[in-house]
Formats: sequence, structure tokens, C-alpha cells
Amino acid sequence: MATKAEAKAEGLTPELRAKMALALDVDDLVEALRLARQLAPWFGVAKVGLELYTAAGPDAVGALLDSGFDVFLDLKLHDIPTTVGKAANVAGALGARYLTMHAHGGAEMMRAGVEGFHSGATNAGLEAPTAVAITVLTSDADAPAHIMPNRLRLAVEAGCGGIVCAGTSLKDVRELSPRTFRVVPGIRAAGGDKHDQPNAVTPELALAEGADLLVIGRAVTLSDNPAGAAAALFAEV
Ligand code: C5P
Repeated sequence: MATKAEAKAEGLTPELRAKMALALDVDDLVEALRLARQLAPWFGVAKVGLELYTAAGPDAVGALLDSGFDVFLDLKLHDIPTTVGKAANVAGALGARYLTMHAHGGAEMMRAGVEGFHSGATNAGLEAPTAVAITVLTSDADAPAHIMPNRLRLAVEAGCGGIVCAGTSLKDVRELSPRTFRVVPGIRAAGGDKHDQPNAVTPELALAEGADLLVIGRAVTLSDNPAGAAAALFAEV
């Protein structure tokens, strides 16, 4: 019988794979697709962030959908409500499954974003997507402790289905808003390089604490052997 690590070397079960988002933080669509296809046995979701979207635009979303991934469009929208609503409508029509917006933009802005995202998807004949609020950036180390719960409440009131939070905040988020979809970046193997992620957690801890979607980038994408790094990272999940 295959050992646990050998089984993980072949990929994850469909249930676990749907919970893994690969952060394609590169500036070239060809490179992004090569990485995504190579890592498809472990990742069911491809995250397009500001770097790749600036480089390749909506083609990045279409190409990843065509390759069989759900797309997480991490544009961290923050503008006047009308503009956010219109941009979110386009994201929904493109087929993005998840879209981020800043809770700092306020309830009215998030509500416009949620409505735009949903109507874009509905009009394109797609199932209802999930708008995800960013509460506090991990780079904002000075944010007072009450900011996260306040923004979480605001995001839920505005209709956001999900939020991004650190693995170390999962317990608080679960208690404050049990039904909110929880997206967790900063995933690292035990003892792995944390880069600029101060609150890094292992994938098994994030899952045990109730994460719904794990965002994973440099822990695999910077490796000379991304598939081997993914197999090792997931050996214990
Ligand atoms: O650290 P890693 O490369 O796994 O980051 C994956 C994603 O996490 C990035 O695409 C970025 O959106 C997010 N990130 C974050 N906080 C940081 C650095 C990155 O949430 N300090």
C-alpha cells in the first residue's frame, strides 16, 4: 500500500483540491499556465492577483478557466461604490468564482461590489460566486485589534460571503461569524521560509481550525521543483 506521502505525491482528493488556491504571482501568462498545469493535481483554484492581472488582464481568467480551474480574482477592489460595482460585474461575467474587495472601502462599496459580482455571473448563466472581503492587510502591523471584528461585521452586513484572515485569527472569525467562508493565506510547511508572512500556519492546522480555502504561493512557486514542494507541503493533510 502507498504511504501517506506517496499518495500525496499523486495529488489531493477532489474535496481537498477544491480548498487549495494557487497564488500565481508572476507577470507572464505563459509562465502562470505552466505552473498551474504542473500543480493541477493539488490545486483546484487558481488565484490571479494584481501582478498577473496587470500583465495579462481578462485573458488570464479565461485561460485558467479553460484549463479547468476555478478562478480567484484577487483585485482587492477599493473605489467609489459605482466603480467597484461595475468592475465586480465584469469579474462575475468573466467567470471568476471569488473576488476580493477591501472592507476599508465601507459597507456601501462592498454592497455594490457584491451586487455587481452576482449580477455579472447570473447574466452570464453562471452559479452564484463568492465576494471575499479583506479586513486588515498583514503588512498593516499597526492596525488596532478592534479593526478586524468591526470590518468583518461590516462585510457580512454588506453581503460578502467570505473574508480573508490569517490562520491565527480563524478561531476568532469562526466565533464571530460561523457561516462566513474563510480564506487563509500565509501557508507554510512547518519550519519553512515564512517570507513576509508574520502569521504563517501549516496547511493541516489551517484546515483543522476551519479554513475553507488555503492560498498558497511562494512555498511552492519559488521551488526548483514545485510539484515536489506541493507533495511535501501536503504530506500531512
Ligand atoms: O506568501 P505566499 O506567496 O503564499 O502568498 C500568497 C498570497 O498571500 C499572495 O498572493 C498575497 O495575495 C497574499 N499575501 C498576504 N500577506 C502578505 C503577503 C502575501 O496576504 N504579507
